[in-house]
Amino acid sequence: MDKNMTLISTTSTQASTQASRPSSAQEQALVHGGQLSTMAKRYHIEEKDWLDLSTGIAPIAYPVGILPSACWQRLPQHSEQLSQVARRYYQTPNVLPTPGSQSIIQMLPQICASRGFARSQVWLPKVGYQEHRKAWQKADYQTVNYTDINELEQIKHKDIVLLINPNNPTGVLYSKEHVCQLLEHVHSKQGLLIIDEAFMDATQQQSMAQELDRRHRATHLQPQNAYLTQQATAATETNSKQNSSNNSANDCPANAPHNIDKSDALIILRSVGKFFGLAGVRLGFVLASEPWLSAMSSSLGPWAVSGPAQFVGEQALTDHRWQEEQRIVLKRLSSALETVLAQAFAQPVHGTYLFKTVGTPHAPAIFEALCQQGIYVRLCDENDALRFGVPHEQGLKRLEYALHTAPIQQLISR
Ligand SMILES: Cc1ncc(COP(=O)(O)O)c(C=O)c1O
Repeated sequence: MDKNMTLISTTSTQASTQASRPSSAQEQALVHGGQLSTMAKRYHIEEKDWLDLSTGIAPIAYPVGILPSACWQRLPQHSEQLSQVARRYYQTPNVLPTPGSQSIIQMLPQICASRGFARSQVWLPKVGYQEHRKAWQKADYQTVNYTDINELEQIKHKDIVLLINPNNPTGVLYSKEHVCQLLEHVHSKQGLLIIDEAFMDATQQQSMAQELDRRHRATHLQPQNAYLTQQATAATETNSKQNSSNNSANDCPANAPHNIDKSDALIILRSVGKFFGLAGVRLGFVLASEPWLSAMSSSLGPWAVSGPAQFVGEQALTDHRWQEEQRIVLKRLSSALETVLAQAFAQPVHGTYLFKTVGTPHAPAIFEALCQQGIYVRLCDENDALRFGVPHEQGLKRLEYALHTAPIQQLISR
């Protein structure tokens, strides 16, 4: 891998890789944002009076409207229509609808074991969504922490690499070009690259989804499986042409030095909950080669994605006008949040269009002081940073006011 690969945004943290083993603490439930009722009880503030910025879920949700009664009444069968829509949205032919990425994160260790990765070492970002670590350690995999993807030059034969891109909570976003180099390296070691793109929708041009299609086509000239239909290929070709001027500079090199199926070395997880503001609907997609998708589909079993989730997903993924508007609004709201945080804190602000994170040694005390004012943010697992979900204008004013009150200013400037 090229040591000078481009990083689109970075955090200042640096740490060496280290091996870790499962501990009983890892078996316990992890702390996540979004636990408003617990907070309401703890601080004796009614739920309705909180400003909840504890998640990275868009503050504006896709307008769901009234659902046809059939989607509540019938057992949800495989929806070819939803798959078609998802192929167009993600611009890749092989898609599997899931009840959110979390369900797949939990099953990945078993699926990987059943597909020849039982003895693999798993490389995980030191800071990032900790459910990944929990799942691998629970399944007794040896895990190794990395802080920067350049450290992944050290991977060994058949290692598994997990990349969260962009990372939650650090906001680090590696460019597609950079990730392509990583994929080449992982593939050369006959390893597996799993990319969690839960927060990628507002920066689609950096997604590796189209890469799967290119790689698949490099080794399979004819579609041969249940997930890859001719219509889907035509759909992705049309979209690829439309987007080729944007993406050509970012595309991975087309040369294929290894003759095993290159698309087999890559699994991408996408979540509908974040960008569409629909975390409650429990919908996501896996983008991967057909053998991976078959294994996951059979593990999920029948009726895994509810009828309402299928219906809403279909509407949301086809509504390009709403998506475009959402990108514009999120860009505006997230940059306003960044301005407010940059004015309040001396430390740099990182993040995505869906959240911003500030590192501070006083994170626990500031978290506590904000809670006392009914503002719920995410105290990061390492207790050294606060993550702020993107608020509406009114919420932002309340946050700005709170950050400039004397108790919080004293903590910030200590
Ligand atoms: C990086 C990351 N991946 C996956 C998930 C889970 O997403 P889903 O709601 O699709 O299960 C989260 C949830 O916060 C997350 O932060």
